[in-house]
Amino acid sequence: MSFQLTAEQKMVRLMARDFARKELEPAAAKRDKEEIFPMDVVKKMGELGLLGMMVPIEYGGAGAGAVSYCLALQEIAYSCASTAVTMSVANLSTEPLLKFGDEKQKAKYLIGLAQGEKLGCFALTEPGAGSDPGSLSIKAEDKGDYYLINGTKIFITHGQYADVVNLIARTGPEKGSKGLSAFIVEKGTKGFSIGSREDKMGLRASNTVELLFNDCMVPKENLLGKLGAGFKIAMTALDSGRIGIASQALGITRACLDESIKYAKERKQFGKTISSFEAIQWMIADMATGIEAANLLTLSAAWRKDQGMPFTKEASMAKLFASELANKSAYLALQIHGGYGYLKDFKVERLYRDARATSIYEGTSEIQRLVIARDLLKDQNNERYD
Ligand code: CAA
Repeated sequence: MSFQLTAEQKMVRLMARDFARKELEPAAAKRDKEEIFPMDVVKKMGELGLLGMMVPIEYGGAGAGAVSYCLALQEIAYSCASTAVTMSVANLSTEPLLKFGDEKQKAKYLIGLAQGEKLGCFALTEPGAGSDPGSLSIKAEDKGDYYLINGTKIFITHGQYADVVNLIARTGPEKGSKGLSAFIVEKGTKGFSIGSREDKMGLRASNTVELLFNDCMVPKENLLGKLGAGFKIAMTALDSGRIGIASQALGITRACLDESIKYAKERKQFGKTISSFEAIQWMIADMATGIEAANLLTLSAAWRKDQGMPFTKEASMAKLFASELANKSAYLALQIHGGYGYLKDFKVERLYRDARATSIYEGTSEIQRLVIARDLLKDQNNERYD
C-alpha cells in the first residue's frame, strides 16, 4: 500500500494550485458579489485540460485519471468554489459520451468537450423530480428520424453557457427509472431555449438555469446509449460527479482551515492571540482531522475508479463525509472569526454560503446514505473488507 502520489499527480496538483491562486482567487469575491460567470477563465481551464481530465488522450482529454482530477478540483475549489462546480459538471458531462457514446458521437462531441472548446452540462432534475429522478416527466417521442422533446429541466449548472446538453428524458410508457433515455442536445437546436436564471445563496459565480424544450427536434443519431438506458447512464455519470463534489467540499474545508489559522494567530482578545485558547485549537484540530479522513475517502474512491473497480458506494461515502465536513468547518471557521466572519469582507462568509450546496446537489446527504445502505444490505458474502 502506498499513500504516495505519483510525480504526475503531484505535478497536476501544483499546476491547478498555481492557476487557481493566480487566476481565480484575486477576483473570486467580486465574481460572487456581482454573479459573474467567468467564461474567459473557463476557456483557460479548457486549454489546460482541466475540463476533460478523465477522458483518454485519444479522445482529446488529459488522460490524467480520477485521482489527479480530485486533486486539481480541490485546488480550484480552495480559491473559488463556484468555478469548481463548473469544472466538476464539465467533467461529469464527458462521462456519458465516453462510456456510452458511439465513435461518431465521440468524434462529434466528446473531443470538443474534453479539449475545452465546448462546454457540456447535465440535465436530469425537473420541478417534480429531484432526489427521485425516476419520476421525471420530460417527454421524448419517437417521430421516425427524430425525437420530439417537450418539458422543462431546472437547476442546470452553467446551462446558459453550455454548447452540449446531456439530457435524460422519458421515451417509454414504463414507470419510474425504466423507460428513460439519454440524448445529446446541441445549443441552438430549434425548440430548445434557456429559461430563468436562479438567484442563489452561494456559488453565485456559477450559473444555474432552467432549460426549456418546446417541440424540440433532436436527430435520432443523438440518442446516447441504448433506448431505455437513460437512468443507468445518469447514475453512472453521478458516481463520477460525486467524487468531484467531495473534492469541491474538501477544497472549501481546506480554505476554512487556513482562514481560521491565519485569523486566530492575528486576532487578540484577553491580551493574547485567540490561537492560544483551547476552544479555538480544538476547532482547528477537528477541521484538520476531518480533512485527512475526507481526503482518504475521496482519493480511494477515485483510485477505485482509475482501477476499473466498482466505486458507487465509495463515491457516496466520500461525498457524504466531505460535504457534511465542509458545512461543519464553515460553521467553525465563521465562529472563530466571530462578528467579522459575518461580514462580506471576509472569505469565510462566502465559504459558509458555498459549502451549503455541497450536501444537497448531486444527491443530498440522505440520498448518499441510502446508496451506501442499499449496497451494504445486498452484500451477502461478508467480504466487505477484503
Ligand atoms: N450505476 C449504474 N446503475 C445504477 C446505479 C449506478 N450508480 N444506481 C442504480 N442503478 C440501476 C439499478 O441497478 C437498477 O437497475 P435494474 O432496474 O436493472 O435493477 C436501476 O438503476 C434503478 O435503480 P434503483 O431501483 O436503485 O433506483 P431508485 O429510483 O430507487 O433511485 C437513487 C436510486 C440512488 C435514490 C437515485 O435516484 C439517486 O441517485 N437520486 C439522487 C439524484 C441526484 O443525485 N440528483 C442530482 C441532480 S444532478 C446535479 O445536481 C448536478 C449539478 O448540476 C451540480
